[in-house]
Amino acid sequence: MGKRISIVLIIIVVAAFLLPLSNLVIALPASPLAEHETDDALEAEVVAILENKCVQCHSTEGQRPWYTAFPIASGIIEADIEDGRNHLDLIPDFVGADGDPVREVTLSKIEYSTQYNTMPPTEYVALHWNHRLTQSERDTLQDWIYRERMEHYATPGNPPEVMRHTLQPLPGEHGQDMAKAELGDKLFHDVRLSRDNTLSCATCHDFAKGGTDQLRVSIGIDNQRVPVNSPTVFNSGFNIKQFWDGRAADLEEQATGPLTDPAELDSNWDQVAEKLEEDEEFTEAFYAVYPEGYTQANFENAIATFERTLITPAPFDDFLKGDEEALTEEQRHGYQLFKDYSCATCHPGVILGGQSFERMGLFADYFADRGDEITEADYGRYNVTGDEYDRHRFKVPTLRNVALNFPYMHDGTVETLEEAVDVMAEYQVGMDMPEEDRDAIVEFMHSLTGTLDGVPLDDPEAINEAAPEWRLDHTQR
Ligand code: HEC
Ligand code: HEC
Ligand code: HEC
Repeated sequence: MGKRISIVLIIIVVAAFLLPLSNLVIALPASPLAEHETDDALEAEVVAILENKCVQCHSTEGQRPWYTAFPIASGIIEADIEDGRNHLDLIPDFVGADGDPVREVTLSKIEYSTQYNTMPPTEYVALHWNHRLTQSERDTLQDWIYRERMEHYATPGNPPEVMRHTLQPLPGEHGQDMAKAELGDKLFHDVRLSRDNTLSCATCHDFAKGGTDQLRVSIGIDNQRVPVNSPTVFNSGFNIKQFWDGRAADLEEQATGPLTDPAELDSNWDQVAEKLEEDEEFTEAFYAVYPEGYTQANFENAIATFERTLITPAPFDDFLKGDEEALTEEQRHGYQLFKDYSCATCHPGVILGGQSFERMGLFADYFADRGDEITEADYGRYNVTGDEYDRHRFKVPTLRNVALNFPYMHDGTVETLEEAVDVMAEYQVGMDMPEEDRDAIVEFMHSLTGTLDGVPLDDPEAINEAAPEWRLDHTQR
């Protein structure tokens, strides 16, 4: 009996040494990343680090250690890979990217995992000690992240220490053609865009309500319910794509969606043109700016140009640019926690979001816990790509003016900002969050409530008072 136990023990001890040792002897097969060609020495170093230490679990096409051929080990590693890839797939950032820079979220995620030393996972480096990131590898990754960020994503005109940062201040100027924007402003607020002249874009994107309707889901023409919550139009020009599922490439393409949607405005540009032609004053003004007149492309361009002017600077921008006092002490603490809890990895950049499609429910099943039936809208990005990987992925919403953008999430089921942060901690971050941390993060998010043309957005009366008359006549309901 005793002898048998010792044999088993010996086998276990030998296996425990052999497994990690095998990593030194048996090389991992190459992933597609290894074939990524570049003349850039720093990028080549970065790709080598990611290839050797990360891609095993951050791609479905990655390398597998030899022992994954055994049933139990393969189950464990496959689960890790599935999980790892749901958080981040490194391949598309380099392979088939057609020279596009690595995505802003990928930079933020790698930065977080190196700064907080979360990757590779502890259980994994226990077996693969040579897969730990060395300090010099960490430095290489950081240097590359700063360089890429400053070149491709930072708001220009700020000192380097500001430009290196994950979160970026809004630019001071929107740089749009104001003659076009004014026409777009009028169209955006014009009920003639709806079939029965009852609602306009602004009915669901009310400037006195943070650019949303503050309803769980929007109500369209004939009181029809739209399947999702209305996102804000403020700062929407900074989104990589438009809509929760990203089905519109840009604001131009987006504008026709609600116009022709039978549950929203239920119209089309010909109908709109017909109505507007009876309005001599508007028609003359429009043709003065767009000589080809009422075409779909011109309507779309006017509205999109207007939307690109809707940037809402906030106290947080002053803080990012160096004014410590722009935030209260509690807000500064909340901001630190926002970074510590990895919120900025998915909510990076100028608008704290809008840069990627992320799986809702990475650490727990959001949809099972919600209870309601899963709708087609809940599939998110999957509806556009048909790729299983995209199921339940949504464009990460901006957190600018988030305090005004209630209720929350694509389904509008989360009522308060406190609850929204709790939901994020549970489903997206997988960390316990004490109430005082949660409250500090909420306080921080209040520093993202901005102004539009100098008027504070959390003061609906001031917004309506300062508005040109056409902005006030946007709903007949
Ligand atoms: C053994 C598999 C494995 C390896 C190797 C690995 N990861 Fe991960 N990674 C995971 C898993 C699993 C998750 C899911 C989150 C968790 O369980 O903490 C994850 C999550 C992440 C995340 C998001 C959350 C966080 O904690 O930062 C990032 C970013 C990340 N990995 C980057 C990397 C980088 C960079 C490397 C290489 C230095 C790496 N990973 C190596 C398995 C792996
Ligand atoms: C009936 C309410 C309603 C009307 C009217 C409406 N919208 Fe929306 N809007 C929504 C909803 C709901 C969504 C999200 C839809 C989705 O993602 O599938 C949305 C999404 C958007 C987005 C994308 C924002 C983002 O972050 O992805 C923009 C921009 C936008 N609308 C502008 C407009 C414009 C311009 C008009 C007028 C032509 C308009 N909307 C009319 C409710 C409405
Ligand atoms: C893995 C990516 C990821 C991480 C990490 C993450 N979020 Fe999110 N966040 C999302 C996605 C995706 C949504 C939209 C989910 C939906 O609509 O179903 C979202 C939505 C939100 C919303 C609701 C906004 C709105 O307008 O509806 C808030 C608030 C928010 N996140 C804050 C945070 C905070 C605070 C943290 C850190 C504790 C955090 N997020 C971490 C991806 C992430």
